[in-house]
Amino acid sequence: LICIGFEGTAEKTGVGIINSKGEVLFNKTIIYTPPVQGIHPREAADHHAETFVKLLKEALAVVPLEKIDLVSFSLGPGLGPSLRVTATTARALSLSINKPIIGVNHCISHVEIGKLKTDAVDPLTLYVSGGNTQVLAYTGKKYRVIGETLDIAIGNCLDQFARHCNMPHPGGVYVEKYAKNGNKFIKLPYTVKGMDISLSGLLTAAMKKYDSKERIEDVCHSLQETSFSMLTEITERALAHTNKAEVMLVGGVAANNRLKEMLNVMCAEQNVDFYVPEREFCGDNGAMIAWLGILQYLNGKRMDLNDTKPISNYRSDMVEVNWIPEENN
Ligand code: ATP
Ligand code: FE2
Repeated sequence: LICIGFEGTAEKTGVGIINSKGEVLFNKTIIYTPPVQGIHPREAADHHAETFVKLLKEALAVVPLEKIDLVSFSLGPGLGPSLRVTATTARALSLSINKPIIGVNHCISHVEIGKLKTDAVDPLTLYVSGGNTQVLAYTGKKYRVIGETLDIAIGNCLDQFARHCNMPHPGGVYVEKYAKNGNKFIKLPYTVKGMDISLSGLLTAAMKKYDSKERIEDVCHSLQETSFSMLTEITERALAHTNKAEVMLVGGVAANNRLKEMLNVMCAEQNVDFYVPEREFCGDNGAMIAWLGILQYLNGKRMDLNDTKPISNYRSDMVEVNWIPEENN
């Protein structure tokens, strides 16, 4: 079985093709970079309409149309206009080649491609990107958000700070570079509320430290140490609550070596395995959408075209999990 997947929840489009053995045959992403700050939802949608056609042509040059058995797309969560273009693209293809269609949850796709690409079997997942910051776990037959940010995502926090200091995009990369040469720890707000964290107060405080002429290296170092400690703390607490034996890190911020190092130390202390998929499968991509489509389809999931209306606040626990064997519950 060969599935094509369309990812388009926010400012990126991705098309991926994967077979039921988990072999990725095509996987390419195009990022929409707005001319001015911030994503305008309508402009992101226009970008999607244009780039999906381009990506689809490239994909079909690698895997011919006749070989595609299933069409999958990101149903949510995400920005309404982006999701609508994604759904429309997938529906048009499904109708024109007369093959089944499946809409999948974006966050769960991150977890499932991570499991495919690492040795993780049933991990507690820390998903950290520009738009999301969540601790996810499969418990009680559902994927549940055990902890999350109460305001902005970690990637967004790093990017906003970087922009404030005139660093190029993507900000997280440059914050990490500066942080390597920081040696003074500046105290910043540390906000953990039970299983959740808050980052906006930390962001404001870090910007103020920069404005008051603290060394940028020291502010970046302190911002990373503080925010990553918060992430590590809620992940550690989630481990205790869920009794999982593995931790997996996914999302664009998973590229950060200091975050990996801190989680690695915590996992060693807790005696659990730690996994990070390779970069291509950490960030948003089409292959992860195609893979979750395959898992659901092979386990009996069918969707009518009428079921393919985007769900912008599609929570992980709304998904009926039919692909994880009973003994893993
Ligand atoms: P999603 O739609 O899942 O929220 P996204 O659109 O934010 O994803 P990703 O590629 O998953 O896309 O993540 C991008 C984020 O990762 C940006 O905020 C960027 O600054 C951050 N990032 C990239 N590299 C690093 C790094 N080395 N350290 C910290 N953050 C990083
Ligand atoms: Fe994502």
